[in-house]
Amino acid sequence: MSKIVILTGAGISAESGLGTFRDEGGLWAQHRIEDVATPEGFARDPDLVHEFYNARRAQSRAAQPNAAHFALAKLQKEHRGDIVLVTQNVDSLHEAAGAQNVCHMHGFLDGALCSSCDTRWPAPPVMSKTRQCPSCNAQTTRPDIVWFGEMPYHMETIYHHLSEADLFVAIGTSGNVYPAAGFVQEAALSGADTLELNLEASATISQFAQAEFGKASEIVPNWVETILR
Ligand code: OAD
Repeated sequence: MSKIVILTGAGISAESGLGTFRDEGGLWAQHRIEDVATPEGFARDPDLVHEFYNARRAQSRAAQPNAAHFALAKLQKEHRGDIVLVTQNVDSLHEAAGAQNVCHMHGFLDGALCSSCDTRWPAPPVMSKTRQCPSCNAQTTRPDIVWFGEMPYHMETIYHHLSEADLFVAIGTSGNVYPAAGFVQEAALSGADTLELNLEASATISQFAQAEFGKASEIVPNWVETILR
């Protein structure tokens, strides 16, 4: 297996104490997507949206990576081929475990973005609508998070990697949000083998050639050992 493209979702961070979106009691049961994860919601009530991401940022900064994050970082270091790590997660737990060049397709909580001039800078712990952009001084600071209705980041690079993948692995994602949910089909069409590692079958399970079910902290390190063996 020389080139492996890995897509992670909220399930990989669940055992680090960060809630998923669609499991029982998940974030989308507690908050309306329209209110906190759309540009329209932000335009309507920026205070509410900043409050939501400030709380998630604090939670994420306090969290520790788990065995699954460490196993993927080890795979990146020790595998002789290419490991591409794409995540839908906005926490930085892959990096905290030592992973490099993580492609955050949905943005990340540690980033701030000016919606007037597109300048990016490290997010302070608490963001608010009155924070000025360090470049253009406009009070149009937002979290560097991709919201529904917006284009995810790095898509061209990701599709390029998928077209070259020998193996595509999806970990801890429910397969409900596109374009990420379409990566398995894209990789398979280019000839890659496909594997799902998840607690329960995702919405796209029928498109994977193989699957393993269980907690990420157990099944991911086991799978990494089989690759490094
Ligand atoms: P979901 O909450 O939709 O799915 C989480 C997945 O993780 C489910 O398949 C669970 O079975 C699985 N899971 C839960 N605990 C696990 C564990 N301990 N080990 C392994 N798997 C576990 O989260 P995502 O698929 O990541 O986007 O959601 C995709 C996108 O939807 C997010 O990036 C976010 C959200 O709306 C935006 O906000 C743009």
